[in-house]
Parts: sequence; structure tokens; C-alpha cells
Amino acid sequence: MPLAEQLIVVAIDGPAASGKSSTAKRVAERLGIHHADSGALYRAATVARLRRDGSAEQWTVDSVLAAAERVSLFRNETSFEVRLDGEPLGEELHEAAVTALVSLVAKMQPVRNWVNDLMRQSAREGSIVVDGRDMGTAVFPGAKLKIFLVANPRERARRRLLQRLKRAPMDDEITAEAEALKQRDAKDEAQTQQAADAVVIDTTHLTQEEQVERIVELALRA
Ligand code: CDP
Repeated sequence: MPLAEQLIVVAIDGPAASGKSSTAKRVAERLGIHHADSGALYRAATVARLRRDGSAEQWTVDSVLAAAERVSLFRNETSFEVRLDGEPLGEELHEAAVTALVSLVAKMQPVRNWVNDLMRQSAREGSIVVDGRDMGTAVFPGAKLKIFLVANPRERARRRLLQRLKRAPMDDEITAEAEALKQRDAKDEAQTQQAADAVVIDTTHLTQEEQVERIVELALRA
């Protein structure tokens, strides 16, 4: 049976900027199945709440959930696109204000339940590659293949800056970004879970294509 008909779930987890989403997207393309990014949902809920109120002091669980109701997942040809009030969300998802507040939103258990339900619903529509921090544990404990991506903080910082600045970052920029990543890792510690049966891939010395290739091979054997 072709892969796309077998309803498989490949779950890719890992810390901030470990390359989960870009890798998951490529793996899904290679396998000819859909991709869904759980981090984008946490980010979209944060964007929705930010549009009402820029200071997080008044952010109650109920107010974040009410904002999240305006977020939906739209199944396109290759992925589940995150939309707010029916409009696709692009770069805004990765703005600094969103990154600064998303961990707070992600700590709210009802928000986690909302994301997890949407992710499970997406997987009911066909085979899927999902990425986040707890896909292989809380959300898809029965996933066919679980990957946990790691990379050293300076390398993660370098890649994130290259993506954001579209040029090679300087040494002091890397140092500052590595520190910011470490702080976010700490904030996300409780929700970042490595499944006991996950395959750990350290991507510090791998190219993106190499890590994609490894995961595709594992998926085809799973
Ligand atoms: O790509 P990056 O690691 O920067 O983050 P992301 O995948 O876009 O996720 C953004 C934030 O959402 C994380 O910092 C976590 O706070 C949260 N998140 C989570 O708690 N659980 C997930 N499954 C995915 C993301």
C-alpha cells in the first residue's frame, strides 16, 4: 500500500530552533503526505490575543481561548495552514513580540487541549508529519515514527539568525541569540518531552537535506 494510504504519523519534537518545522515540511513533501506545525497554532493564538491587547498582564486563560477560537487550520495541498479570521498568517507568527509571549500561552492547559484536538483532527484526514514539543508523547503516543531533534545552542542560534536576517550572523549576534534560546528552552522545559521510543538526531553537524534523508529512510522502514 502506498505510504499516503496507510495513515502514518511521523512526530518530530525538539527544543527551540532545532529545525523541527523546516525539516518536518521537507519530510512531508518527500513522503507525499501533509504537514502540521503545532508551534504555529500556539503562535497564532498568541497573535490573536496580542491583536486585542498588547500587554500580557490581563491575559487570562479564558481570554486567550476566546482569541484562539478565531484561529483555524486550513488543509491545502501539502500542509495545514494556520489562519486567523480566515486569513493566512505569515511572518507575523515569528515576530519578536509573539516569540516573547508564546511560552506563557503554551503553559495554559486548556490552550494545550485546543491545540492537541486540532492536531488529532488533522491526522484523521490522512497521513501526516507533525512537529512540536510533545507530539510523540501527549498528542500522538502511537505515532509510527518519533524523532527528537537536538543541536548545540550556538548552531541553533546561527541557523535561526540566518533565517531571520537572511545573511550570515556575527559572533556577538549568535551569542545573544543563543542566550535567548536558552531562556526559551527553560520556559518550555515542562512542555518539551522526549518520548522513550524517539530516535534522537543531533543535527549540529548535519545539513538539512541529511537530516531529512535520515528521517525519510526511518519513516519508510517504520
Ligand atoms: O520553532 P520554535 O522552536 O521557535 O518554536 P515553535 O515550534 O514555533 O513553537 C513556539 C512555542 O510554542 C514554543 O516556544 C512553545 O512554548 C510552544 N509549543 C509547545 O508548547 N508545544 C508544542 N507542541 C509546540 C510549541
